[in-house]
Amino acid sequence: MNYYPQMDSRSSGAAGAEYGFSSRMRGVQSSLIRDLLKFAQRPGIISLAGGLPSPVTFDVEGLRSAAEEVLAREPARALQYGLTDGQPALKHQLARLTTSRGAAPAEEDIVVTTGSQQGIDLMARLFIDPGDVVVVERPAYLAALQTFALAQASVRCIGSDANGARVEEIDAVLDAAAAAGETVKLIYVVANFANPSGATLTRERRLRLLRTAVARKVFVLEDDPYGELRSFGTSVVPVIALCPEVPGSAHWCGYLSTLSKIVAPGLRLGWVVLPPAVREQAVICKQGMDLHSSTLTQEVAAKYLASGRLEARLPSIQAAYRERNEALAAALTRHLGQRIVFNRPEGGMFLWARLNEGFDASDVLRHAMEEGMIFVPGSAFYSDAPDRSTLRLSFATAAPAELDVAVQRLSRALDRSAHRTIDSNPEADGKALKRRRS
Ligand SMILES: Cc1ncc(COP(=O)(O)O)c(C=O)c1O
Repeated sequence: MNYYPQMDSRSSGAAGAEYGFSSRMRGVQSSLIRDLLKFAQRPGIISLAGGLPSPVTFDVEGLRSAAEEVLAREPARALQYGLTDGQPALKHQLARLTTSRGAAPAEEDIVVTTGSQQGIDLMARLFIDPGDVVVVERPAYLAALQTFALAQASVRCIGSDANGARVEEIDAVLDAAAAAGETVKLIYVVANFANPSGATLTRERRLRLLRTAVARKVFVLEDDPYGELRSFGTSVVPVIALCPEVPGSAHWCGYLSTLSKIVAPGLRLGWVVLPPAVREQAVICKQGMDLHSSTLTQEVAAKYLASGRLEARLPSIQAAYRERNEALAAALTRHLGQRIVFNRPEGGMFLWARLNEGFDASDVLRHAMEEGMIFVPGSAFYSDAPDRSTLRLSFATAAPAELDVAVQRLSRALDRSAHRTIDSNPEADGKALKRRRS
């Protein structure tokens, strides 16, 4: 029985406006990446679109034995309701994992979240009233922009370059907001191999970020899903690990991470390290969101992390992404030459690129889909005037040989995109956009 014959969101009847959806839903778009994921399921498509971890990194055997052990030995705990802030065994392991990255949280500083995405949502709910300002880097993680839009935040951007977010621009944003009578509540940064830019924030900029946070009393949330996935160079400790060097900053800094990219996104487990007053509010907020994250996956993850298998596998996971990182860069040079400029990320999953010759990446995407490959046009990652010549290419999901084929397809798509509508200079692009609108 179909309860809703011929009724979809576009049909007449009790659709759209008649429901009186909340104002926060107004103007919030479906994520282009989530929409592209559906297309990526089609046979023969090579996706450089999503940040989906390569299945070769999944430790199926290790997770299976952890799950079996949990269900055999502790079924009553793993299948029962749990604590909102997380299962103690998992918090213990997550504190250990975070400590291995250079920060040293106590177990009670941690709140387990349903993916790090819920951590971003929690922070938005805790801090943002409609119209409050959130500072992000340009370009920024799309799903964070979506979350801030749902919170009805006013998003302000600072620039970014090869050394990550230009944190020295934050003061000007704060001053402008104060002059306009606005309150800046949150600074959101992805400091390691940012999504989408691939850039890594230097230690000096991390320290400056903390100094700004304390001086201006604005909370900094570092989102760190990719820090363990370093392919080249030396690691920089998380922003929160530098708090001892900036007196008072520990109260203005939170650290968010996830098991999605190093274990498996299907677990839907992330965690956030927060100062006590913020943590208390976060727990109350999470109670109302989902009571707690899945006890079953938390117990399985705790057992898995305790087994030591992750540490043993990390070098091979890093090697797999290093190989793909290099393969994509080599394919771009080989097949696209002067038609593209791109960064060389030191790790993570994404390569950020700009098309020369005035190509519009959204236009190229249409042809690329016909050729059998997809990527994400960079414009999806801007909350202000986008640079439409940019694109994000993920090297995480496809194997090295597939990456090469995908870039050949991209090259053919460029051949077919005769339509060169934009000036690839971002400033000029902004002007071109204004011209087109007027
Ligand atoms: C910067 C960033 N933050 C958060 C997430 C969400 O990850 P999770 O699966 O933990 O919700 C992603 C996923 O791609 C990401 O790139």
